[in-house]
Amino acid sequence: MKKISLLLDMDPGHDDAVALLAALAHPGCRILAVTTVAGNTAVENTCANARRIMTLAGRTGVPVAAGASRPLSGRPVTAENVHGRTGLEGANLPEPAFAAVPDFAPELIVRRLRGSSQPVTLVATAPLTNIALALLRDREAFHRVERLVIMGGAAGEGNVTPAAEFNVYADPEAAGIVLGAGLPLFMVGLDVTHQAIMTGKDIETMRGLGGDVGAAVAGLLDFYRGHYDRVYAWGGVPLHDACAVAEALCPGIVTFSPMAVEVETRGEFTRGRTVCDRWGVTGKPANAAVATGIRIGALKKFIFEALGRFPLPSPPR
Ligand code: RIB
Ligand code: CA
Repeated sequence: MKKISLLLDMDPGHDDAVALLAALAHPGCRILAVTTVAGNTAVENTCANARRIMTLAGRTGVPVAAGASRPLSGRPVTAENVHGRTGLEGANLPEPAFAAVPDFAPELIVRRLRGSSQPVTLVATAPLTNIALALLRDREAFHRVERLVIMGGAAGEGNVTPAAEFNVYADPEAAGIVLGAGLPLFMVGLDVTHQAIMTGKDIETMRGLGGDVGAAVAGLLDFYRGHYDRVYAWGGVPLHDACAVAEALCPGIVTFSPMAVEVETRGEFTRGRTVCDRWGVTGKPANAAVATGIRIGALKKFIFEALGRFPLPSPPR
């Protein structure tokens, strides 16, 4: 089976952490790099958290780089109220067993794209600042991107404001650049990730999988669930970012509709909104495939199977 060449841009973050573990455990992909960006917490934390998760997974050979520490414009926005002071509270994670590479993340993204002889699937589960900066540096390198799957935006309601989803709200200008770049973009937004609720029973299932990894994930989700119990009372916690990685590695878990999507950057109440032309009323050509449905059973199976693969065999030398 041909392996998918994967680039991950993340802001771990609890749901990023589960998405990262699922990718690390998937036998059908080769992770070219993990790049990190300010979002849920400062980029120093997201970079350290990614390396903590990879140390836990026993995968310390994949290059990790830190990227943008702030959005392209506007004030920085973080989500410590959701993810805690470090951005990944709730489990005793190991300290990183390896250092980040010295490259600035957008430069590493460009270099990995240019160096890949295979088409690349790029998954972004964070504010799109790194992706936008990489596009501005070297748009041509992105011809190697077979799919760009982002967790972000929403055709419906927002989560950080009534209008805007966090990843787009944190850097609307970057999201606008990425959506306007003519890439094969798959937008996995809140319309489907808010359906991807891991219940208390699911968390207990995860606790029993994969030894230390499942125990750590359950501890992380017990913490992450606190925010959702307080605000939404859905009886569980949505794993937003895992939806994007699941779709990237198992195409078809999410269903999409082509839409013209614009990003509002000036609205007093709507900055960061992804304005999705579901019914084609603008006559503008579609620039994104917008997620409209998700197979929850297949998603949970993807996550449980991934956790069940830990501890992973030693990586090939
Ligand atoms: O709105 C959900 C997104 O914001 C997820 O990527 C989560 O990790 C946060 O970054
Ligand atoms: Ca994220």
